[in-house]
Amino acid sequence: MSDFAAYIDRELSRFHEELEAFLRIPSISTDPEHAGDVRACAEWVADHLLAAGLHEAEVIDTGGHPIVVGERIHSEEAPTVLVYGHYDVQPSEPDELWTSPPFDPEVRDGRLYARGSIDDKGQVHMHIKALEARLASGADVPVNLKLVIEGEEEVGSRHLAAFLHEHAERLACDAILVSDTGMFSPELPCITTGLRGIVYTEINVHGPKSDLHSGTYGGAVVNPANALAAILAGLRDEHGQATVPGYYDAVRPISARERADLERLPMDEETLRAEVGAPALGGEAGFSALERLWYRPTLDVNGLLSGFTREGSKTVLPSQAMAKVSMRLVPDQDPAQVIEAFEARVRELAPEGVTIEIKRSHGGAPWVADTEHPIFDAASAALESGFGAPPAYIREGGSIPIVQEFEETFGAPALLVGFALPGCNMHAPDEWIDLGVYRKGIAALADLYGRLGEQLT
Ligand code: BES
Ligand code: MN
Ligand code: MN
Repeated sequence: MSDFAAYIDRELSRFHEELEAFLRIPSISTDPEHAGDVRACAEWVADHLLAAGLHEAEVIDTGGHPIVVGERIHSEEAPTVLVYGHYDVQPSEPDELWTSPPFDPEVRDGRLYARGSIDDKGQVHMHIKALEARLASGADVPVNLKLVIEGEEEVGSRHLAAFLHEHAERLACDAILVSDTGMFSPELPCITTGLRGIVYTEINVHGPKSDLHSGTYGGAVVNPANALAAILAGLRDEHGQATVPGYYDAVRPISARERADLERLPMDEETLRAEVGAPALGGEAGFSALERLWYRPTLDVNGLLSGFTREGSKTVLPSQAMAKVSMRLVPDQDPAQVIEAFEARVRELAPEGVTIEIKRSHGGAPWVADTEHPIFDAASAALESGFGAPPAYIREGGSIPIVQEFEETFGAPALLVGFALPGCNMHAPDEWIDLGVYRKGIAALADLYGRLGEQLT
């Protein structure tokens, strides 16, 4: 056993306690009331980077939530690896659906339950501990390290792109390493080679100046809720495709090689159905579930608001209706083009008698890796050393909008090695991290830091 692996085993219960302390800080980025907690969390990260043996760690203000930058220079000739992660989390509500409180971590059956346990504080912590294990056991870290741990990932990384450009010289790197994705099963480590992009919008439909009696006026005044329902229904056709003009033009067809790769994965749709607890799976006609999730774009309603929704009844024509609608994009769709076409389509679908207002929230481009790069060999060997099995190459239906931005800014490849398991309840009640995967993952990452030094020189 390597010295760092022995160190990890020896120190593991302290690692758990530390992770629990990290998870106790409610770093909810979307909620202004938690801005102080978000900052405290940034300080926690910086302190623990220094304790792990980094030479520098700084909490840098952005105008939004701060970004933590850590640094350790090995030598002038050594390659540079930039590690990206996020310390902010999604809101925890509805809190009553959690078995134990979201910010009071609890271990049950080998899992640690808390908001942020897997997305992404647990995975950030794995990197901190992997670095500590190498440095404390004398294995050294043979690369120059830059860590960028942000506090706004869950709200669209609002200040990160500008930050990267502003600090481009300081953060220059040869590879970008991200642990914010998943794996297929506890025994099958994974490298994620593609992410979907996203365009997030809000449609507001305005009708009469106030709510109206639905008997006195119903039938003669256009109802914004009816209008919105018609718009939403018109945005998708009976084959489950979006009706936004040109939406599929830039979508890359799935190659024979990609189909063959998908076939080899241990995926069974019934397991997926049971995992989500839905009566049946469904989606765009003519594609398998993995194809729909990884290779096809979507158009989904994320939220709806209008009229009277409490218990009982109230005969009313609502004066407004609102829907949050987002699209997950795949290579080579362009978010800027998609949003324009989407807006035009919504206006085309809107009946007369209402006005439409469309707000654009965050967006991000899709990303796909060049798997020929040698860092993929380094990652395969490292994951095999940590988990005893070579990794599968997978894609991810979710988005980490900044990955594409990183590659463009630094001209360096991104490597996505993540540890979330199916059913880990990211963004949902009872989020958990598997503590066995946590330990093996730290060992794999510690090994990876050594191999990146060899592969990138
Ligand atoms: N870690 C996730 C992305 C992810 C989701 C990876 C599922 C693996 C499985 C990330 O924190 C996230 O939630 N991204 C958001 C981005 C959005 C807020 C711009 C997403 O995908 O909704
Ligand atoms: Mn995440
Ligand atoms: Mn997330």
